[in-house]
Amino acid sequence: MATPTAKPFHSKMDQGMAMKDEEKLYKRDGTFYSTIMTPPENLDAAKDMEAREDDVFVVAYPKCGFNWMVGIVKKIMSASAGITAPDRPPIIEFYSPEVVAQSPSRRFLGTHFHPDNIPVSFNTKKTKMLVVFRNPKDTVVSYYHFMNNNPVLPKAESWDKFFSDFMSGDVAWGSYFDHALAWEKRMDDPGVLVLTYEELKENLPEGIKKVADFFGFPLTEEQLTTIAKETTFSSMQEKSKNSLGNFGKVFFRKGEVGDWKNHFSEAQSKQMDEEFQKKLAGTKLGAQLKYDIYCK
Ligand code: A3P
Repeated sequence: MATPTAKPFHSKMDQGMAMKDEEKLYKRDGTFYSTIMTPPENLDAAKDMEAREDDVFVVAYPKCGFNWMVGIVKKIMSASAGITAPDRPPIIEFYSPEVVAQSPSRRFLGTHFHPDNIPVSFNTKKTKMLVVFRNPKDTVVSYYHFMNNNPVLPKAESWDKFFSDFMSGDVAWGSYFDHALAWEKRMDDPGVLVLTYEELKENLPEGIKKVADFFGFPLTEEQLTTIAKETTFSSMQEKSKNSLGNFGKVFFRKGEVGDWKNHFSEAQSKQMDEEFQKKLAGTKLGAQLKYDIYCK
C-alpha cells in the first residue's frame, strides 16, 4: 500500500499521464522547465524566496545523484541533530515560497537551478551550498531513461535525438556544461562544497563524512557506518519500494558508473570528449570529475 510519502509523486505522475507530451515542458529565458513540477508562477515566486544562513542546501544538475544525496543528508540530520525533514522532495522550485517558509530551522532545501537562477537571498545570507556533479556521459544516459520512465516529462523520441538535445542544452533545467562552468567559478568559495557521484561510489563513508563536516553535523563512527550501509544503491532501492511503489524504479534505476558504454556511439563519445575538452579540461571541476578515468 502507498504511504503518504508517495502521494505527491503519484498525483504529479497521474497529472503527467493525462497531459500531452508537447505540453510537458515550456521555455523560460531560453531554458526548458517542467510544466507540472515547476510552473511559471513557481519560478516567478522563487526569485523572492528568503534563505536562512543555516539552511542545508543541496544543488545538482538533474540526474547527477541528487536523490542519493537527499537520502544521505536526511539521515545525517536525523542522526546528528534529531531533525526530521518534511517528507517531500526538498526542491525549492517545486513549491511556493510560503510552503518553504513554513519549515522550522534547520531547513533542508535543494534545487536543480543554474547558479544564476538560485534565489539571490541564498548568496546574500551566505548559505552553504553542497553541489553534486556526475560525469556527463552517465548523466545524459540517466536523463534519457528518466525522460522515458517519468510521465511528468515528455518521452525522449530516441537516444540519438535526446543526446543531441542534451548537447545543445535543450533539456529541462538547461545545459550541463553551462551549470558546470558556472560552478567552476565558485570552486574556491569556502561556502561551496562540490562532491561527485563517482567520489561517493569510490568511498561512501568518506563522502558522508565530508557532507556532515561541511554542514556542521558531527557523527559518531557508528552513525557513519550505519548511514553508509543504509544509503547504498541496493538499500535505497529496496526502501523506495515501500515509499514509492513502482515509481521507485524511476529514481533508482541502475546506480552504476559507466552505463554510458551501453548507449554511446563512437561519434557521440568523440563529440562529448571534444565538448569536455573545450569547456572543462584544465579546470578544477574538470579534474574532480576524473573524465579520463570515467569517460574514456
Ligand atoms: P542511473 O539512472 O544511472 O541509475 P538524481 O537523483 O539526480 O535524479 O540521479 C539519479 C541517478 O542516481 C540514477 O542513476 C539513480 O539510479 C542514481 N542513484 C540513486 N540513488 C543511488 C545510490 N544510493 N547509489 C548510487 N546511485 C544512486
